[in-house]
Amino acid sequence: MAPPSPRGMPCGPRLAAVLLLAAAAALGFGVRAGAAQLCAEYYDRTCPGVHRVVRRVLKKAHEADARIYASLTRLHFHDCFVQGCDASILLDNSSSIVSEKFATPNNNSARGYPVVDAVKAALEEACPGVVSCADILAIAAKISVELSGGPRWRVPLGRRDGTTANITAANSNLPSPFDNLTALQQKFGAVGLDATADLVALSGAHTFGRVQCRFVAPRLYNFSGTRRPDPALDQGYRALLSRRCPRGGDGSALNDLDPATPDAFDGSYYANLGARRGTLQSDQELLSTPGAPTAAIVGRFAGSQKAFFRSFAKSMIRMGNIEVLTGSQGEVRKNCRVVNGS
Ligand code: HEM
Ligand SMILES: *[C@@H]1O[C@H](CO)[C@@H](O)[C@H](O)[C@H]1NC(C)=O
Ligand SMILES: *[C@@H]1O[C@H](CO)[C@@H](O)[C@H](O)[C@H]1NC(C)=O
Ligand SMILES: *[C@@H]1O[C@H](CO)[C@@H](O)[C@H](O)[C@H]1NC(C)=O
Ligand SMILES: *[C@@H]1O[C@H](CO)[C@@H](O)[C@H](O)[C@H]1NC(C)=O
Ligand SMILES: *[C@@H]1O[C@H](CO)[C@@H](O)[C@H](O)[C@H]1NC(C)=O
Repeated sequence: MAPPSPRGMPCGPRLAAVLLLAAAAALGFGVRAGAAQLCAEYYDRTCPGVHRVVRRVLKKAHEADARIYASLTRLHFHDCFVQGCDASILLDNSSSIVSEKFATPNNNSARGYPVVDAVKAALEEACPGVVSCADILAIAAKISVELSGGPRWRVPLGRRDGTTANITAANSNLPSPFDNLTALQQKFGAVGLDATADLVALSGAHTFGRVQCRFVAPRLYNFSGTRRPDPALDQGYRALLSRRCPRGGDGSALNDLDPATPDAFDGSYYANLGARRGTLQSDQELLSTPGAPTAAIVGRFAGSQKAFFRSFAKSMIRMGNIEVLTGSQGEVRKNCRVVNGS
């Protein structure tokens, strides 16, 4: 996990240094750029309007799609858990790429790719070749949370884009809504996050967005193969979800993840858990698993939206630091869907 950049240190793409390294490499010197750190000021000189441009495109997209802020927040998460925050999730199938878009957690589920394309196009107009797709995902998540009423934070920047994807890692690293608490904790720990604090705070992103019936129905009709409903689910909420997701019905039908305030980023997720109204099995487990080490934090956030907001911002920064490429590693893609020069 990269600490914040030291005060006073210059921060930003250092063209001269990059060219020098490239020249040295061309001459056959075995050079490797030292792992640089992310910093909020990274584009201050090379693309000062980056936040304004992203915000404008996102607001425009939101006019047509109330769900887009949630979808973009999730994309950053699904990027970072798979070989780090390198925009690997954005790569399409090609002769050299097996796209992560078709991994089980993403297929017909992860969305927002055309909006990322629109952001990239606008940024290529404003400052060609400068802003990475991995940074676009981090900025889009931050602005999405903010525009939905959530916390603000200064998002560290300077990620470079990867040149590979890994569908196997997408299938194994990303959590499933049917994972038990032990498995959820294991997956968060495996990417270097705190298996308790970060897990509880980041799960609070389920305060907005939608969920398909296929991820809820097993809880209603055949919990863990028992042919019974999940005993941790409130009766009234089960009745509501059962009407929305009838047995054998359309698995792609949508529900709100947070029935209380569907599109607002607030702390109601934790109050929902307290009322046994977590929508996913993986949500309710944070509180209802006997002896859960996560339960106390759920209680704390249920009592204080301020505490949740502060922790969420911190955990998003931690998630955004997972295995980032910096300096001369990777590249800045021209098109987020394809590796440069392919
Ligand atoms: C803890 C483990 C997690 C599991 C098992 C999980 C699982 C899911 C599932 C199954 C959906 C519904 C997808 C669909 O119906 O197509 C969903 C939606 C969502 N997830 Fe998670 N998630 C987890 C953590 C996170 C984290 C860490 C974030 C972000 C920080 C996040 C943000 C979201 C958002 C915003 C949505 C709504 C997306 C939309 O409406 O397009 N989730 N999640
Ligand atoms: C991309 O490749 C994967 C794995 O080979 C395949 O399952 C999927 O159908 C392909 N998608 C497209 C749009 O070609
Ligand atoms: C992705 O979803 C499509 C449509 O539901 C399905 O036909 C395809 O088999 C799925 N791909 C993979 C790799 O599971
Ligand atoms: C892809 O991810 C899997 C599972 O994490 C890992 O075992 C494998 O080494 C990765 N492949 C590459 C080429 O990095
Ligand atoms: C949790 O799930 C894993 C498989 O993902 C399983 O091995 C383990 O026994 C489960 N733990 C509990 C407490 O059910
Ligand atoms: C319930 O789930 C179990 C295990 O996942 C499966 O074998 C069984 O066929 C399911 N029963 C029904 C009625 O769907």
